[in-house]
Amino acid sequence: MKHTEYERELIDRRNMMKGYKEEEKNEEYPVSDQDNGVLAPPLFLAKGGKKIISLPKKFDDVVKNNDVMCVMEKRKSRRLFDREEFLTVTELSYLLWMTQGVKEVAGNAVRVSVRVVPSAGSRHALETYLYINRVEGLDPGLYHYLAEEHKLEFISYYKEQTQELSAAFLGQTYFAGSAVAFIWTAVPYRMEWRYQEWAAKYILLDAGHVCQNLYLAGESIGCGVCAIGAYEQELADEFLGLEKKQGYQKEEEFVIYAACVGR
Ligand SMILES: Cc1cc2nc3c(=O)[nH]c(=O)nc-3n(C[C@H](O)[C@H](O)[C@H](O)COP(=O)(O)O)c2cc1C
Repeated sequence: MKHTEYERELIDRRNMMKGYKEEEKNEEYPVSDQDNGVLAPPLFLAKGGKKIISLPKKFDDVVKNNDVMCVMEKRKSRRLFDREEFLTVTELSYLLWMTQGVKEVAGNAVRVSVRVVPSAGSRHALETYLYINRVEGLDPGLYHYLAEEHKLEFISYYKEQTQELSAAFLGQTYFAGSAVAFIWTAVPYRMEWRYQEWAAKYILLDAGHVCQNLYLAGESIGCGVCAIGAYEQELADEFLGLEKKQGYQKEEEFVIYAACVGR
């Protein structure tokens, strides 16, 4: 059957969503880097931030509703935020912990991080960036979450970038103008090292868990959340200062998902 270029694109994308194929389980099929004895990539990234900010881990005072059923039922996407309202550092810390918090780093031959959210093979191939507009005591600007240490690293000051961010996220002004915009990147090789081409599917599934936790955690502290999947790849990557890679490179990192948070 002849397909147009567009149909072939759709077929490729659909195949990406499918599971293992029987015909691929033969001897000629390449084994994973893990099975080839290639050293595992780092579990975490650090961005060499100018300042490291410790985050509190005691959340009793911020959680207003810990009735799981009620929080799930109340959850909805919220886009109208009060531009006078700030989040506290403890609230932000709670949202980071609930979405990517590292409970332990375990394993001997293969080290894995065990987090608040699940991940295929516990590979956790996501990184969290924050564009902060309104968090008490934190300079507006771009930050990266150091998940292992549960700390923030400050990357750059706010320089009227809201418009840039808005353009990268297709003019969704409620995103760029929210108290905190979460931007998640994928570091695909962290997952590909074990799962080869199936990594793409697993990374996207993982991202869904992370954002759902943000919705529920947000709801439990009286904050609104809206998932953001519409953005312009190049502009969003540029906004985070991610290097553009040509061809297949193990170091590649790029934006895959985002969400805004506000009151
Ligand atoms: C993967 C995904 C991508 C989304 N992208 C956007 C987006 O770019 N902009 C937006 O305003 N809402 C976005 N949303 C929110 C949806 O529009 C919302 O979940 C949907 O309308 C259902 O409403 P509810 O979340 O209130 O139940 C996204 C949601 C998901 C799960």
